[in-house]
Amino acid sequence: MSLANQKKHFDIPENITYLNTASQAPAFKAIYEAGIEGLKQKSRPYTIKGSDYFEPVVELKKLFAELIDVSNYNRIACIPSASYGIATVTNNIVLKEGDEILVIDEQFPSNYYSWKNLAEKYDATIKTISKKEGELWNTNILNAITNKTAVVAMGHIHWSNGSLFDLKTISSKTKQHKALFIIDGSQTIGALPFSVKEIQPDALICAGYKWLFGPYGCAYAYFGEHFDHGNPIEENWSNRLDSENFAGLTNYQEEYKPLANRYSVGESGNFIYVKMQIAALKQIIAWTPNAIQEYCKNISSEAVKELRNLGCQIEEESIRTHHLFGIKLPENINIEALKASLAQQQIFVSFRGNYIRVSCHLLNTTEDFSRLVHCLTSVLAK
Ligand SMILES: Cc1ncc(COP(=O)(O)O)c(C=O)c1O
Repeated sequence: MSLANQKKHFDIPENITYLNTASQAPAFKAIYEAGIEGLKQKSRPYTIKGSDYFEPVVELKKLFAELIDVSNYNRIACIPSASYGIATVTNNIVLKEGDEILVIDEQFPSNYYSWKNLAEKYDATIKTISKKEGELWNTNILNAITNKTAVVAMGHIHWSNGSLFDLKTISSKTKQHKALFIIDGSQTIGALPFSVKEIQPDALICAGYKWLFGPYGCAYAYFGEHFDHGNPIEENWSNRLDSENFAGLTNYQEEYKPLANRYSVGESGNFIYVKMQIAALKQIIAWTPNAIQEYCKNISSEAVKELRNLGCQIEEESIRTHHLFGIKLPENINIEALKASLAQQQIFVSFRGNYIRVSCHLLNTTEDFSRLVHCLTSVLAK
């Protein structure tokens, strides 16, 4: 089913062109209202029941599990950031000297530093897979996976330009070589279809404030069997078995709740955040990542042609996503003048050197892309 624009859900004024959901998603109205409900509850703490600490979190986990195609919601943990999830993962991996950890060139730092620490701890090596002009990134990644590979840690796309990775093929090569496959879905889950059943990662970590429209400070993790008996990086009371029985909390409990529950961050039952997250995930599931991708393609395809005609370079559709992509600017453009013009016209995108990263969603229309093209055209004409 194709979607009409959903601008009515958002609170973005008509004169603003926000093409930067990849940096920070705007809360849509249902999320805002859910947050206000949470604040009201906090203003009257005597209305908070014991079950409010647990039941909404279960509902949230079920929604995230549905979105990523996982049948058991106990495989989901609620975490505060992607870096927390990656730190939890690296806390539960033992390597041998000389093992290799594969990462992608210019990977997001939250999915790099913990790997570097792990490599140093075990005298292992970080192998960075890069791509030169004309090369195919997926081929380079597949060729780099050998019996020395202990872990492949990467995203579904490159966070800076939307280059799409063939996770299914990479996953089967990691299995062939008994390597762990850890995915950072922060720039894709919610906007690009993803199925744990199909890809079979060992863990999937995902920031929640971008394509999942959650508040800043909420994130999600899926943990597979490798992590079933692991060690969390902190010990929160609510992750232990029978923690619903408040009167018995100091009868210290050896056992955790099942599977990934041990990895949830302390206070993950945050009344305000959880309400907002539930409202956000319900709406994303109703929209569907497939239809979101299709919508983003429809509103951007004309602009992509026009931008190419202006001398900009954009990857071919088959190897990039539509909700996030990079525009390599023509050599002769005055970048400072472009930045000033975009700011003056209230067009929001991300800059990296002579690349622009554009990211769009149902809050955008073809008009937003026309304004971007128009702005670039006028700066180039000067
Ligand atoms: C690929 C990717 N992973 C993770 C994050 C966020 O990491 P964290 O939640 O640790 O701040 C970002 C933010 O831009 C990102 O682009």
